[in-house]
Amino acid sequence: MEIEKVMVVGAGQMGAGIAQVCAQAGYEVLLHDMDEKALQKGMEQIDALLTRAVDKQRMTGEEKVATLHRLTPAAAMDEAKQCDLVIEAVIENMSVKKSVFSQLDQITPAHAILATNTSSLPITEIAAATNRPEQVIGMHFMNPVPVMKLVEIIKGLQTGEETYDAIARMSEKLGKTSVEVNDFPGFVANRVLMPLINEAVYAVYEGVASIEDVDTVMKLGMNHPMGPLTLADFIGLDTCLYIMEVLHEELGDDKYRPCPLLRKYVSAGWYGKKTGRGFYQYD
Ligand code: CAA
Repeated sequence: MEIEKVMVVGAGQMGAGIAQVCAQAGYEVLLHDMDEKALQKGMEQIDALLTRAVDKQRMTGEEKVATLHRLTPAAAMDEAKQCDLVIEAVIENMSVKKSVFSQLDQITPAHAILATNTSSLPITEIAAATNRPEQVIGMHFMNPVPVMKLVEIIKGLQTGEETYDAIARMSEKLGKTSVEVNDFPGFVANRVLMPLINEAVYAVYEGVASIEDVDTVMKLGMNHPMGPLTLADFIGLDTCLYIMEVLHEELGDDKYRPCPLLRKYVSAGWYGKKTGRGFYQYD
């Protein structure tokens, strides 16, 4: 099956980034969000990043115009009725995702693939909300989507090989490297990354070293582009806590227990960069 027309549901930072890379790679893209302001903000984010790409001479002005021409904001999810693929990037909440997938199952043509950008929720359970579980798959992009080269492709229990192959081919066309992952909590990216971040928080909590020094150890000692606490602020401390809770609950092992300091910051509304305060303060 050839994918030509794509809808991205959810115009937040991830959804807008996914829509951008799809449009840049030549796909016809509809970007949908039920919140009109969020949709407008997503379109503005894309425009700003394409303008920056032109300024940096990574793209010509004509390419920018052509990319934007392929990208249409969609006020209603019903517009997915002619799409070959829908990529969902809404809030990380199982009942919301199930509702979106059940609606998409009704709206989209029978051949369409339904993908989710979830960072940790089970693909198998999301797929069970549809009548086409063999055409449901995880397509987990990393933040910032236009920059990061990886896509984790997650197979649910019933995901078909044809679906996997179509998404692997598409990921390559997007200029990404994909890895095949089975449906277990946190997949690979967050199974490995979140305990690292959580352990960095424990190091601060137990007074092993300061926030800045923990980050410096990992930046200069391990060549990570960002220290783990800077990265946690960048991802969102609420998201980090949520994923740790999924790992803890689903795997049932106390090695995944979220650090109390992480809980405390989230309780205070210190979510990181997006709220202006996390481990660091932002303007
Ligand atoms: N969107 C698009 N492009 C962005 C961007 C954004 N939010 N932030 C930075 N960039 C681009 C910049 O435009 C710049 O490109 P140009 O040089 O062409 O202008 C390039 O990235 C480098 O940016 P900077 O020079 O400003 O800063 P940097 O060199 O520190 O790079 C970074 C920024 C790419 C974010 C880098 O710090 C990095 O790789 N950090 C780690 C990011 C990471 O680990 N992401 C995964 C998070 S985990 C996840 O996403 C999974 C999950 O489920 C939680």
